[in-house]
Amino acid sequence: EFFSGYSGARTFLIQPIRPDGSADALTIVKMGPRETVRQEFENYETFVKDRLPPVTARIQRPPVTLAEHKQPGARAALQYTFIAKPGQPPVSLRQVLLQNPDPAYLLQLFETFGPSWWMQRHPYTFRLGLEYDRLLPPHFILEPVPGERSGKLLDETTNPTGLALTVGEVVTLQPFRQADLRAGGRSCSLTGIPGGGQPALRLRWLNAAPPSRPAAARVSAARMDLLNDWTANFDRFGLPDPLSCLQAALGETITGTRSVIHGDLNLENVLVGPGGLVWLIDFAQTGEGHPLFDFAHLESELIAHVLSVQTGSPRAYLDLLQRGSDPLLTALHQITGRCLFDPAHPREYQLALYLACLGALKYQNIDGLAKHCLYLTAAELGKKMFP
Ligand SMILES: Nc1ncnc2c1ncn2[C@@H]1O[C@H](COP(=O)(O)OP(=O)(O)OP(=O)(O)O)[C@@H](O)[C@H]1O
Ligand SMILES: [Mg+2]
Repeated sequence: EFFSGYSGARTFLIQPIRPDGSADALTIVKMGPRETVRQEFENYETFVKDRLPPVTARIQRPPVTLAEHKQPGARAALQYTFIAKPGQPPVSLRQVLLQNPDPAYLLQLFETFGPSWWMQRHPYTFRLGLEYDRLLPPHFILEPVPGERSGKLLDETTNPTGLALTVGEVVTLQPFRQADLRAGGRSCSLTGIPGGGQPALRLRWLNAAPPSRPAAARVSAARMDLLNDWTANFDRFGLPDPLSCLQAALGETITGTRSVIHGDLNLENVLVGPGGLVWLIDFAQTGEGHPLFDFAHLESELIAHVLSVQTGSPRAYLDLLQRGSDPLLTALHQITGRCLFDPAHPREYQLALYLACLGALKYQNIDGLAKHCLYLTAAELGKKMFP
């Protein structure tokens, strides 16, 4: 079993054995909630199968569900081709770059998949929060409280922008259609419906059972409380607090483009496989979006998993950032320059990267040094963008 992320899916390497005892090729089986698995298959059929060059993992058949598991919340499985050199475990881009931080891998990634995805784009004007809000922690954390309805009413269509709730306040929560049990099984993520150019309201509900009828709930934290808590001890070396411009950034209107994007371009979802080629896996989030979303996410991953390790301290990382001479970042910025709507306006990417860095603070698989480096990147960008 591969233990990678927090998607709630489980991924296994399988050796299929036929009834006569002969063995088929090793294969990957990914199991998860039936609805997410179905979505991943649909994304693959629509955006990957006939579009991308063959250096991607292939889904070999529609998802399967056990006959006795048809009820909602049941699990399903997908079969992917196994991407690895014969006899070896899969190697992620993270592992490769830690050994050999060669920017050629990044350029190859863009040259291989760019013509089918990021470069097939059309103009798109949007409020930043619409595409990027989902990277951040939930808007509010709510705990169920006994009693009847009271206070403000929150439902799937509530606009999160400007929704001011104070900690301790009691509200009434309507059922949400999208309610996913989180890893650990003790709380749920409730996701609303985006509308009118505004992002979906996202809530964490501190109970394994999502509300099935209107329920009283107490606000136990807001997004800003979480972000402030996580970063309270980080030295900023004289830079301004990047959290002070978060609302302004989310509200900015971007003149950009839209294309197919991977949607979760992290360093574990890019494998360096047979032929030394760069392969893509994990199409769970693939769809239409802002091309720079993928590269902002990838840059935050490079900072957290490669540059923080290479530099070893927040101060050394900030020096590297301010010198602007790191070869991996230079290559990535060559790519992002090509994805800008107007190459003379790098703010389109700076905003994306700022949010990707703040969003990555929520990941539990990165350490304090990595988070500190992400925070400093956001602070440096905040200083440039909101002087
Ligand atoms: N086709 C494949 N070939 C080789 N290894 C794979 C393949 N698919 C998955 N893996 C391994 O399993 C891990 C987890 O699979 P995958 O990325 O699809 O799901 P996930 O990580 O649960 O999703 P998320 O990245 O959102 O957490 C990968 O990072 C990789 O190490
Ligand atoms: Mg993955």
